[in-house]
Amino acid sequence: MRSHSRALVLTLALAVAGCDSPQNYMGDTGGPAAEQLANLGWQALLAFGAATLITWGLILWVALRRRGTLAEHAPIDADHGQAWILIGGVAIPFVVLAVLFISMLDSLAAFPMHHSGASNRPDIRLTGQQWWFEAEYGPGPGSHQVFVPTEIYIPVGRPIEIELQARDVIHSFWIPKLHGKVDLVPGISNRIRILASRPGTYEGQCAEYCGVQHAQMRLRVIALPEQEYAAWLARQREPASEPTTDAARQGREVFMTAACPLCHTVRGTDARGRLGPDLTHMASRELIAGGAFRNDTANLQAWVTHAQSLKPGSRMPNLTDFSGPDLQALSAYLQSLR
Ligand code: CUA
Repeated sequence: MRSHSRALVLTLALAVAGCDSPQNYMGDTGGPAAEQLANLGWQALLAFGAATLITWGLILWVALRRRGTLAEHAPIDADHGQAWILIGGVAIPFVVLAVLFISMLDSLAAFPMHHSGASNRPDIRLTGQQWWFEAEYGPGPGSHQVFVPTEIYIPVGRPIEIELQARDVIHSFWIPKLHGKVDLVPGISNRIRILASRPGTYEGQCAEYCGVQHAQMRLRVIALPEQEYAAWLARQREPASEPTTDAARQGREVFMTAACPLCHTVRGTDARGRLGPDLTHMASRELIAGGAFRNDTANLQAWVTHAQSLKPGSRMPNLTDFSGPDLQALSAYLQSLR
């Protein structure tokens, strides 16, 4: 294949894949709601593709057909031409748009949605903050509710009611493989129901511009088989585990005497801040900083000391007062919070 035709094929392949990571490709759906949206998308693509082809065909026909002189042809009958304006300009677009409209109404049925005032408790309450998502799981038998940032676990095959709200500005919940975009609006509670038909990790992203770190406001939905989900939730409901190594014990001292508890909660300790993410089981998560970075030692230490370089404008301050050993101990403690 010559290089420019290869480039063309590659471009087309990228266009088909949505120019995004395959993780977010909307055609590869994980649940019925997204499936409806994908079907609607394909129908619209086919309808408008056909309309475009026909239009270009007619333009080509007009350009290429054999022309005669005025002497050979009688002038075109004016009435006849006007009928085509009605057919091409009104009737055909009406039919195409009406079919798509009906199809869209049909798709809407896959999105049961109601506003504040719903009586039953949602399974998950999702709050948008600058710039991270926080999921609250309601109280279980003998336990308080738990707060989990960025990584939202759900069971496979069971519809989950999510209440969407915002603490500061408007954000938007968007997991392309599971559901369309729904806004999180301060003062209003929106409800959606999501259903994952198969286990997996579904990546998402805030889809409403909400400030400088909008692009770094990510989330993921992790769908697990019912039993694994129950085990995960039971684990999250437990208070933080006691540090078992000297480094972790020393790290807890550092954590408690620094500014950390003012903003973060570690259940089972005196740290009860509610401004930042709950850290009770932070080592069980793959991502930190609203999904911006992987949860490893290097990123953790960089985040604690230079959050404002990594995610400028976020509420996490630069904490540069730690000595080297203190910082090592602190990250050892955070990584012990499984
Ligand atoms: Cu939150 Cu964009």
